[in-house]
Amino acid sequence: MAVITCIDDLKTIYQRRTPRMFFDYCESGSWTEQTFRENTSDFDKLYLRQRVAVDMSDRTTKTQMIGQDVAMPVALAPVGSTGMQHPDGEIHAARAAEKFGVPYTLSTMSVCSVEAVAEATTKPFWFQLYVMRDKDFTRRMIQRAKDAGCTALVLTLDLQLLGQRHKDLKNGLSVPLRPTLGNIVDLATKWRWIAGMAKTKNRTFGNIVGHIDGITDMSSLSVWAAESFDLQLDWDDVKEIKEMWGGPLILKGILDADDAKMALNVGADAIVVSNHGGRQLDGAVSSISALPSIMDAVGDKIEVHLDSGIRSGQDVLKALSLGAKGTFIGRAYIYGLGADGEAGVTKALEVIHKELDYSMALCGKRDINDVDRDILLMPEGFGGGWQS
Ligand code: GLV
Repeated sequence: MAVITCIDDLKTIYQRRTPRMFFDYCESGSWTEQTFRENTSDFDKLYLRQRVAVDMSDRTTKTQMIGQDVAMPVALAPVGSTGMQHPDGEIHAARAAEKFGVPYTLSTMSVCSVEAVAEATTKPFWFQLYVMRDKDFTRRMIQRAKDAGCTALVLTLDLQLLGQRHKDLKNGLSVPLRPTLGNIVDLATKWRWIAGMAKTKNRTFGNIVGHIDGITDMSSLSVWAAESFDLQLDWDDVKEIKEMWGGPLILKGILDADDAKMALNVGADAIVVSNHGGRQLDGAVSSISALPSIMDAVGDKIEVHLDSGIRSGQDVLKALSLGAKGTFIGRAYIYGLGADGEAGVTKALEVIHKELDYSMALCGKRDINDVDRDILLMPEGFGGGWQS
């Protein structure tokens, strides 16, 4: 493989090796993609403060997220259909994460089931829950995550409806992939992916198929989500799920200070400031620009994490300097996964770790736990001044 120096290098190889419909699925935002674009470009509006002549020896990026030790404050985010990005993708990603010492979050909409991932790994991972109309399924799914030894529940709150991503409709996105003429032509160059898929039995949504009555094939995620996700989900349901789970609860998809206060009131252990990677409400503010007001509202009372837009260690450092205790990466590790399976995810983590470690040092800090607002140069008005 070519010399990999950054996340973008992994993306180039990922694009070459992965069926186009799954690359497009990953690389899309909803509707005009304004929020998807600004999630990354808003990080560029923040500057790190270079400091010199300070001791840079004995550095550490070790810290904790929800009281659990992490090698750096970067968790792997839940990503639906990861097992279509690479054969057995969830297992490859979870193994890379456990070896690196960062949390892996398995999506409800994963291809490898929670049991399959638990069997293929040695350390606990986190489980992300979508709330379905079928309450019994939700109850059983929570029990399965407990039985698999998961140490946190990440409850996604920003996807009761699936935001429209144009390319998915145009490509006829399906899991498993349907052998249409267009797909066959595309697959002609994706021989690694085909060979890997031929070897695994994990080819559909493993947490769902066979676990909900009447559902044997759910090839269209959007149709299935529209039919099955609970449109009525509210804060009382969140409380009920918290009771059912009984362990550490992380609420994902908080983009507004008022919702952050609600999350605090229900007794969540952490929130993830997120707009679902720009895949849901197009026209919403970027995650990084939502962070300052959310920190002001709840930052001293609840652990705040951030996802959406992180593609480098510098981005992680910027989020931490604004007060986040942890971050999640999605696309950044999927690029690595599609490029080279477990080794590619490890590479993505190594790239981000080195960028984070070096950038922290060049800002004059040796311990990630000492990073604060002092290392950031933020333009006036960033993340504020909005009228509603
Ligand atoms: C599901 O989480 C998606 O964003 O497609």
